[in-house]
Amino acid sequence: MSLQPHGGKLVQTYNPNASLENIDKEIQLDAIALSDLELIGIGAYSPIDGFLGKEDYENVVQNMRLASGTVWSIPITLPVTEEAAATFEIGEKVKLTYNGEVYGLVEVSDIFTPDKQVEARLVYGTDDLNHPGVKKLFDRPSIYVAGKTTLIKKSEKQFPAYSFEPSETRAIFAEKGWKTIVGFQTRNPVHRAHEYIQKVALETVDGLFLNPLVGETKSDDISAEIRMESYEVLLEQYYPTERVQLGVFLAAMRYAGPREAIFHALVRKNYGCTHFIVGRDHAGVGDYYGTYDAQKIFENFTPEEIGITPLKFEHSFYCTACEGMATTKTCPHDASSRIILSGTKVREMLRNGEIPPSTFSRKEVIEVLINGLRKEVHS
Ligand code: ADX
Repeated sequence: MSLQPHGGKLVQTYNPNASLENIDKEIQLDAIALSDLELIGIGAYSPIDGFLGKEDYENVVQNMRLASGTVWSIPITLPVTEEAAATFEIGEKVKLTYNGEVYGLVEVSDIFTPDKQVEARLVYGTDDLNHPGVKKLFDRPSIYVAGKTTLIKKSEKQFPAYSFEPSETRAIFAEKGWKTIVGFQTRNPVHRAHEYIQKVALETVDGLFLNPLVGETKSDDISAEIRMESYEVLLEQYYPTERVQLGVFLAAMRYAGPREAIFHALVRKNYGCTHFIVGRDHAGVGDYYGTYDAQKIFENFTPEEIGITPLKFEHSFYCTACEGMATTKTCPHDASSRIILSGTKVREMLRNGEIPPSTFSRKEVIEVLINGLRKEVHS
């Protein structure tokens, strides 16, 4: 596999000097659209250069491909209300704003009404409104505006020391002399199971790009601020600093499981990764997806079409009989020897002031989580 961006080149649409003259109309972005605008602008979504038009959208929803045939699994859309949509004309430029500030422009090339029921069933595998991604899909307005975007202003960096654009991570990896880099997506603190699969992967590649998602997540996920602190203490104490790069991923979580695994892999390819970890129930929520569906979905494509190698890991845990971390693939013991705690269970324990065992999470990480959650409760 090469370090080539998806589609062959980084498509960046950032232009802080773009003219706003005679552009009166505006679309107020929500947090998801704002992060998508920025991710398009910095090249993370290459080869996408704007919000998807009807043809691309339908191809992505139905076939996991753009109209050109390039693999793409999550529709990147700009939803607006019917009233707003009625005021826009094809061909005109519209300002994209957030909290009263202009962040970009869209050159309207298409305005269409999506069939959200179909989008939900095909992208999320369900139209159940209890699914947080599906709920969000239906909560957003009903008409999609499409067109090439220009990113005029980047959002204020929440984690400046860890904010990199694809062109920057590519330069960092090159400077470190890494030829093979494994990307790791997470929306959680790094627990022992995560650490294990990262380190097993790191045994066979040059570098690890720990790339936690810090965009919008569901309300009971642990906040990005607390998680970042937990990554710092963990990396400091348990990882070889010269072989790990921490950097944040601005995207919103969709909880689309298998479809999102493809999306997560393609975007990490744009950041310069050659490999990408897909463990159990990647980007899943509740019981909507099979444990390994997010791995199996890669079989729909040739390795060349994806262009980044998925490293697939089975369910990992601490085994008291093996006296170490293992997976269902390497451990012969039964469930009674395995320390398996769900994220939900751990959050519950932490919120009740209980301490999860060190076989589940490093004590330094637990300390950060407990202190962080305590502060959250008091603020
Ligand atoms: S995700 O929504 O970002 O996928 P999470 O942060 O829990 O959630 O997972 C990050 C990555 O680690 C995903 O690839 C996931 O499949 C993998 N993973 C999480 N827990 C385990 C585990 N116990 N065993 C194997 N893989 C895991």
